[in-house]
Amino acid sequence: MDTNVYRKKLFKLQGEVTLAPHYKNYTDVVLPERFALYKEKIENFKVSNDDIWIASFPKSGTTWTQEMVWLLANNFDYDGAKQLLDARYGFIEMLGILLPNNEEIVALLPDPMDVLENTIGKRFVKTHLPWELLPLQIRDGSKKPKIIYVMRDVKDVLVSFYHHNALFKVDNLILEEYFNYFITDNHMYSPYWKNIFSFWSRRHLPNILFLKYEDMIQDLPAAIQKTASFLGTVVPDEEMKTLVRHLSFAEMKKNTAVNMAPVVQMINKDVSDKTNFIRKGKSGGYKDELSEEMVKLLDVWSEMNIADSDFQLNDTK
Ligand code: A3P
Repeated sequence: MDTNVYRKKLFKLQGEVTLAPHYKNYTDVVLPERFALYKEKIENFKVSNDDIWIASFPKSGTTWTQEMVWLLANNFDYDGAKQLLDARYGFIEMLGILLPNNEEIVALLPDPMDVLENTIGKRFVKTHLPWELLPLQIRDGSKKPKIIYVMRDVKDVLVSFYHHNALFKVDNLILEEYFNYFITDNHMYSPYWKNIFSFWSRRHLPNILFLKYEDMIQDLPAAIQKTASFLGTVVPDEEMKTLVRHLSFAEMKKNTAVNMAPVVQMINKDVSDKTNFIRKGKSGGYKDELSEEMVKLLDVWSEMNIADSDFQLNDTK
């Protein structure tokens, strides 16, 4: 079958599939209806030049990057890194991304923006928002925190997000249903390519570092070195060895400060492997789960999305 056949299938899907229930399209991002309550607060959030931000489309290696950056920026403080990663980073839009079935959680949690505003010293922020929804002070350039953006091959992102949603009981879709929502930009944090391009197009700004999950898989020491240079940190040889070991998939999977097991424990009593947030950690793992047709559709969809850009699709493999 040639590309045109898949294009037609894609257009057909785009005409048929609508927003997943409880989500709203905020022009640059699809998020739960609750996000409307936080959009303006995020826009007005007071940014500091000393902040360090990790940004990404979900499931792109955010947690991995957060842990790497935190240790680099905190002089390899492995004792400090025993604190939950979620407590070391403020997930700025967190209360806005909860679905109705999670609303009792809202009552229990402080707003990370309030926590950040009361933090003395260096602040670490996580977001999955596209550039267009970041605080105004970042967008207008009046504040220039360091922003590390990480991207990952969309096919692995999709599969990882599908499993994430099941693990955290976000929904109980089958893969085909989730696939249809994702590829038509109708589910959580879509559109994927809009998110990527909002940072890719700014990757040459001196306060932005653009990383790729696949590069981290291929050569973690090089990714650490690149990030350290961006942060102005020197990594002695011994520290490099320790950090590479600490950031390995096996270590991260059993590290309760980063593997989300305590949260999974609370939300999903049925799952047998509570460490499954750190699930497979592979590049190309999608081949075991997506059908040939899904892969082809995603490839055609990606080619269409990148057509007018200087982005090289092969780069992300
Ligand atoms: P998989 O579900 O494909 O295994 P995020 O932190 O953005 O939610 O991304 C989660 C993905 O990053 C998961 O992908 C997870 O396994 C992977 N990941 C986390 N730590 C990793 C590590 N040390 N090495 C490789 N992949 C890792």
